[in-house]
Amino acid sequence: MAMEAVRGLELELEDCALPLLAGIVATDEPEEAFRDIDWALLIGAMPRREGMQRKDLLRANVGIFKQQGQALNKVAKKSVRVVVVGNPANTNALVAAHSAPSIPIEQFSALTRLDHNRALALTAAHLKVRVDQVRNVCIWGNHSNTQVPDLTHALWVNNSGQSESVLQALDQDGIQWIQNDFIPIVANRGAEIIKARKLSSALSAAKAIADHVRNWQFGTQGDQFVSMAVLSSGQQYGIPKGLMASVPVTISNGIWTVVPNLEIPEMIQKRINASIKELEDEREEALQFLSLIPSQ
Ligand code: LMR
Repeated sequence: MAMEAVRGLELELEDCALPLLAGIVATDEPEEAFRDIDWALLIGAMPRREGMQRKDLLRANVGIFKQQGQALNKVAKKSVRVVVVGNPANTNALVAAHSAPSIPIEQFSALTRLDHNRALALTAAHLKVRVDQVRNVCIWGNHSNTQVPDLTHALWVNNSGQSESVLQALDQDGIQWIQNDFIPIVANRGAEIIKARKLSSALSAAKAIADHVRNWQFGTQGDQFVSMAVLSSGQQYGIPKGLMASVPVTISNGIWTVVPNLEIPEMIQKRINASIKELEDEREEALQFLSLIPSQ
């Protein structure tokens, strides 16, 4: 049945008449799909339906992402870069990375660019400026409703081309707006879309994946940063080693670097700590499930 849907996608891809599309391999065999690939966009996961929490999905998805990691390990190029989209994305990325020990773990990531784009759009609408006038918003932690959309270092570019602080541009109620509107709207946007569409986000997720891949391939601009969930070193922002946590990064020559030494207000750091705690719990649960799945 899934292959019928894949066939539909194949037909649509053909109909796009994409000049750069050299060929399609339509398969449900990971080792065939991943052979010699440069990029893996791991979109398929057990999907969340209305009312479900992401944690409900963990057990099923550990099995899926272990298998995908093992297949990547076996047949993909060792330089492959991996973007995990299927939820719970951060922990799925960790499971895939752990299952692919021959691929450097820095080449695994999870998508939080969708949250980043949501933060950009909401901020631009609030300030009544164009979205491309806003930059350096960021998302910390998990791609879940504990995530921390952060405007502390956000800038907007005025009509003379100068960058100004978003925080300073907000009116007196700015802090209230951030706490009561901005953070919860961005953090719960995925659930809001599922409620409305009865399906998870699709168009905005595809756009975010394209943004993520484009920046990883071609780099970020100047000192502008973007958000992606990557392996934590244990040395920054109170995030323990070995989690896939969303952080602000800049990218050059295909290498991401966490933006160093950002000042974090206490209110934001507390929220980051809570999201990190959720990631630690997910990791523990995932490791338990992993040990229950026999190795192939
Ligand atoms: C989103 O942020 O739109 C999705 O990750 C939501 C979901 O759980 O599928």
